[in-house]
Amino acid sequence: MNRDKFGYDIDPWGSAEVKDYRFLMEKFGIQPFEKFKKLFEDNLYVRRGIIFGHRDFDKIIDAIKKKEKFFMITGLMPSGKFHLGHKMVADQMVFYQKLGAKIFICSADIEAYLMRNMDLEMCRRITAEEYLANYMALGLDLKKINFWFQSNYRVEYYRFRDQLSKKVTLNELRAIYGDISPAKIISVLSQCADILHPQLPELLGPSPSVVPVGPDQDPHIRLTRDLASRFQTEFRLILPAATYHKFMRGLDGGKMSSSKPSSYIALSDKPKEAIQKIMNAITGGRATVSEQRDLGGVPEKCAVYDLYFYHLVEDDKKLVEIYHDCRSGNLICGECKAKCSDLMAKFLDKHQKKLLAAKEKVEEFLEEKNYNEKR
Ligand code: TRP
Ligand code: SF4
Repeated sequence: MNRDKFGYDIDPWGSAEVKDYRFLMEKFGIQPFEKFKKLFEDNLYVRRGIIFGHRDFDKIIDAIKKKEKFFMITGLMPSGKFHLGHKMVADQMVFYQKLGAKIFICSADIEAYLMRNMDLEMCRRITAEEYLANYMALGLDLKKINFWFQSNYRVEYYRFRDQLSKKVTLNELRAIYGDISPAKIISVLSQCADILHPQLPELLGPSPSVVPVGPDQDPHIRLTRDLASRFQTEFRLILPAATYHKFMRGLDGGKMSSSKPSSYIALSDKPKEAIQKIMNAITGGRATVSEQRDLGGVPEKCAVYDLYFYHLVEDDKKLVEIYHDCRSGNLICGECKAKCSDLMAKFLDKHQKKLLAAKEKVEEFLEEKNYNEKR
């Protein structure tokens, strides 16, 4: 690897470097995703190392190779706007659906109610208008997914969630989650049931499964896998696989967070608002233009570069060009932000047309599935 005169690695993929996550991987036994890279070259998140780790993903590769059934499962948190961070999970749903996986998606409305003070009706609205509509607009075929609200589902799920409580102790939960409360326990066991219940005999039966998550969800994955192994004699559950993706940084330099609109771009933001956020975003630029011409910028520290890297520039050659133009001082942040704004506005315009159409379809989808019955 080349280094520049300031000691930075010169590597267009540097902003997705695994080294920030190495500690987590070593401590909790997440394996590097590297060895699967070649198999999924056309997936941007894989190719660029954004999906950096996994547990047990070999099981999924096996199922794909043998054309055996497998499923992807994830849960959405219906407590705010659907933003670019959420798009990363949605893109993975579309990817797995195209690979032939069954897709299980739940709205974690009980978790939102218990842990985030949301009312259930609001959760329903956000689930439909923000999440499901955006999934559809991003290419997910809703007709083929298995979808449920944690608050309104089949009896096998609730029976199983209750059964799970038998094989976990309070001390264990305290060790994983710190302070524990009845609300937290129900949320956690709901999530374990979300992930495992498709393997119940009434649903698919024992099957390989994968949960794409950010590293923050790993405690849930570890507990779920432990519980799966403790119920072997009763349910013969296959331990779920997981993949781990890096988080984009927030536009304002902190974490990207649903409770801070300046930190994210929502897929329903008006292009004008989005451009404003890009204009205010932190960059890896220098204090003055002449300094930047001399020293070059640092894309590894730049939230604008993240937008290109994670979402806006599919073509690797173009990305590498931006990277080197920034590094060499050819590209100045003002210019670069204008270019990024342009790409973002085009993306949002196009997406929001699809979103509008999707919103109507989503209502039909929920209607058909009787999700609107009085709860
Ligand atoms: N706890 C997850 C979150 O905060 C939501 C969730 C609920 C989930 N059930 C799940 C995620 C099952 C993955 C799998 O976003
Ligand atoms: Fe970021 Fe672009 Fe500035 Fe480089 S030139 S630091 S990529 S905004």
